[in-house]
Amino acid sequence: MKLFFLLVCLFIERGTPLCQKCFPSDFLWGTATSSYQIEGAWNISDKGENIWDWFVHTYPENITNQGNGDIASDFYHHYEEDIDLMANLSAQVYRMSLSWARILPNGKRDYISEEGVNFYKTIFEKLRSKNIEPVVTIYHWELPMTMHELGGWVNPEMADYFADYASVCYELFGSYVKYWVTVNEPYMQCIQGYGSGIHAPGITDTGVADYQCLYAQLLAHAKAYHIYNDTFKATQNGTVGIALVSQWYEPLTDSEEDKLAVERGMQWMWGLQMNPIIYGNWPQIVIDRIGNFSIAQGLNSSRLPEITQKDTALIKGSFDFVGLNYYTTFYASAMTENISDISYNSDRGIIQSSDKNWVLGANTWLHDVPSGLRKILKWISINYRSPRILITENGWSDLPEVVNDTERINYIQGHTCSLLQAKYVDQVDVFGYIYWSLTNSFEWKTGYSEGFGLIQIDFNSPNRTRTPRASYYYYKNLIETNCLKHCAFR
Ligand SMILES: *[C@@H]1O[C@H](CO)[C@@H](O)[C@H](O)[C@H]1NC(C)=O
Ligand SMILES: *[C@@H]1O[C@H](CO)[C@@H](O)[C@H](O)[C@H]1NC(C)=O
Ligand SMILES: *[C@@H]1O[C@H](CO)[C@@H](O)[C@H](O)[C@H]1NC(C)=O
Ligand SMILES: *[C@@H]1O[C@H](CO)[C@@H](O)[C@H](O)[C@H]1NC(C)=O
Ligand SMILES: *[C@@H]1O[C@H](CO)[C@@H](O)[C@H](O)[C@H]1NC(C)=O
Ligand SMILES: *[C@@H]1O[C@H](CO)[C@@H](O)[C@H](O)[C@H]1NC(C)=O
Ligand SMILES: *[C@@H]1O[C@H](CO)[C@@H](O)[C@H](O)[C@H]1NC(C)=O
Ligand SMILES: *[C@@H]1O[C@H](CO)[C@@H](O)[C@H](O)[C@H]1NC(C)=O
Ligand SMILES: *[C@@H]1O[C@H](CO)[C@@H](O)[C@H](O)[C@H]1NC(C)=O
Ligand SMILES: *[C@@H]1O[C@H](CO)[C@@H](O)[C@H](O)[C@H]1NC(C)=O
Repeated sequence: MKLFFLLVCLFIERGTPLCQKCFPSDFLWGTATSSYQIEGAWNISDKGENIWDWFVHTYPENITNQGNGDIASDFYHHYEEDIDLMANLSAQVYRMSLSWARILPNGKRDYISEEGVNFYKTIFEKLRSKNIEPVVTIYHWELPMTMHELGGWVNPEMADYFADYASVCYELFGSYVKYWVTVNEPYMQCIQGYGSGIHAPGITDTGVADYQCLYAQLLAHAKAYHIYNDTFKATQNGTVGIALVSQWYEPLTDSEEDKLAVERGMQWMWGLQMNPIIYGNWPQIVIDRIGNFSIAQGLNSSRLPEITQKDTALIKGSFDFVGLNYYTTFYASAMTENISDISYNSDRGIIQSSDKNWVLGANTWLHDVPSGLRKILKWISINYRSPRILITENGWSDLPEVVNDTERINYIQGHTCSLLQAKYVDQVDVFGYIYWSLTNSFEWKTGYSEGFGLIQIDFNSPNRTRTPRASYYYYKNLIETNCLKHCAFR
C-alpha cells in the first residue's frame, strides 16, 4: 500500500494529502510588523504626531510599565539588520505598515514629507534587493492627531481623508507593491479605541462610537480599494485587500442558547467587518438586535449606522483578497439580557471563557488552539463565497526573555498544520501565512511585557540587540522545506 502511494506521489502534486504534507510551491511565507510598534523615531524631522504618540504620552500609566513607542525596536535605524534577518529566514513576503503622519505630517495630502517618503523607499529598495515582496498595510491604527481633531473615526468624512492618503501611497510606492492592505483590524481599533477606550484615542463610548468607527473604516477601505482598482491597477498590476481579525468560538455547552451565542460571537466580530464587504450590509441579526435594543432604550433610531444603498454600491465586492488575523478560540455562552446596559457587550450578549487544558501564553487571552484556525477558515469559505484568503497575522506571545521558545514552535506547527487541512481537505483558498511578528515589539496596552517575535530584542540596550529565538530556526526550516514533518490527516 505504501509503495502504491509512493508511486502515485511521483506523478501527482506533492501536496496531495495521501503523500507528504507539503505546501504548494507558490505558497507565500512571511512575517509581519506594524510601524508604530517597531519604528521609533516618533518625532524625527517633520513627522507629525499621531494618536498613539499622544495617547502614550498623555496616559503613560495606562500602558504596562509605562512603555511607549518613542524608540521601540528602533527599526528606523535597524532596518538593514531586520531585512537581512528576514532574508536569512528565506521569507518571500514581509507585511509592514506605513505611518500616515510620517508621510503626511498634517494628515492631508497638501504637504508630503520628503524624509518620510525616502525612508519607505529605502525600505522597499532593500526588500527588493533581497527578493522580498512587501505586503503593505496603509493604516495600522496610528491616525494623525490633525485627523483626530477633525473627529477621528466617528466622522465618516475620515474615509475621504484616508482615500487621499491611500492615493498618495499608490502614487509614490505603487511600483514596489503588489499586495496592499487598506486597514488593519477595523474591529480592534474601533472596539478598543472608541468603545472600551483601552487603546488610542481612548474614547469610551461603547455601543455607539465603536459602530460609527466601523462604518467609517469600511467606507475608507472601500474608497481606497476603488481608487486603486480604477486608477492604478492597470499600470501597477497589484491587488488590494483588508486585514480582519477574528477569534473562533465554540459553544460552552450543547444548549441551543450557547449555540446562538456562538453565532452572535462570530457575527459581532467577523460578521461586522466582512458581511458588508461581501453582501453589502451588516449581518441581519446585528441590524435587528441593535435596532430593537435601541428602541427599547428610548432612542429614536438604531445606534448602528445605516449602510445606505449608495454605501452598498461602494463597499460590496471591494477586495481582491481577504486577510485573516487569527490568534485564538474562546467558548461562548449566553449572557442574560440587560436592556439598560448600552454597550457592545450587551448587544452581543455573550460570555467568553477558555478551557483550562488550553496552553496559555504571556497575556490573559491567548491560548494555543490550532483547531480554531481550520474551523474559522472553513466557516469563512462556506459563508462568504470562498474568498481568496491570506493569513495576515497568527502568532504566539510569551515572556520577552525566553529564547528557547518551544511553546511558539508548537503554536506555529499546530496552526500551519491546521491551515494545510483547511486547504487540502476543506478546499479553502488560502495562499499564504504571515507570522506575527518578526521581532518583539511595542504591544500596545501591554507595552514590552510580552513578545510575539521570532527574534528577541534587548529593549534595555541602546543598541536594541537582536537575538533570533529557537522558533526563528524552526520557521526557517519550515519555509525552506515547504513541508510539515508532523501533520497527520487524511
Ligand atoms: C524627541 O523625543 C525624545 C523623547 O523620546 C526627546 O528626548 C527629544 O528631545 C525629542 N526631539 C525633538 C527634536 O523634539
Ligand atoms: C545571514 O546569513 C549569512 C550566511 O549564513 C550570515 O553571514 C549573516 O551573518 C546572516 N545575517 C544575519 C543578520 O543573521
Ligand atoms: C487610564 O486608566 C484608568 C484606570 O487605570 C482609567 O480610569 C482611565 O479611563 C484610562 N484612561 C484612558 C484614556 O484610557
Ligand atoms: C499581473 O500580475 C499577474 C499576477 O498577479 C501576472 O500573472 C501578470 O503577468 C501581471 N501582468 C503584468 C502586465 O505585469
Ligand atoms: C426587531 O427584530 C425583528 C426580528 O427579530 C426585526 O424584524 C425588526 O425589524 C427589528 N426592529 C428593528 C427596529 O430593527
Ligand atoms: C433623535 O434623537 C436625537 C437626540 O437623541 C435628536 O437629536 C434627533 O433630532 C432625533 N431625530 C428625530 C428624527 O426625531
Ligand atoms: C475593478 O476593476 C475591474 C476592471 O475595470 C472591474 O471589472 C471590476 O468590476 C472592478 N471591481 C470592483 C469591485 O468594482
Ligand atoms: C444592567 O445594566 C445597568 C447599566 O449598565 C447596570 O447599572 C445594572 O447593574 C445592570 N443590571 C444587572 C442585573 O446586571
Ligand atoms: C529547548 O527546550 C527544549 C524543551 O524544553 C529542550 O528539549 C531543548 O534541549 C532546549 N534547547 C536548548 C538549546 O536549550
Ligand atoms: C553597542 O554597539 C557598539 C558598537 O557596535 C558597541 O561598541 C557597544 O559595546 C554596544 N553596547 C552594548 C550595551 O551592547
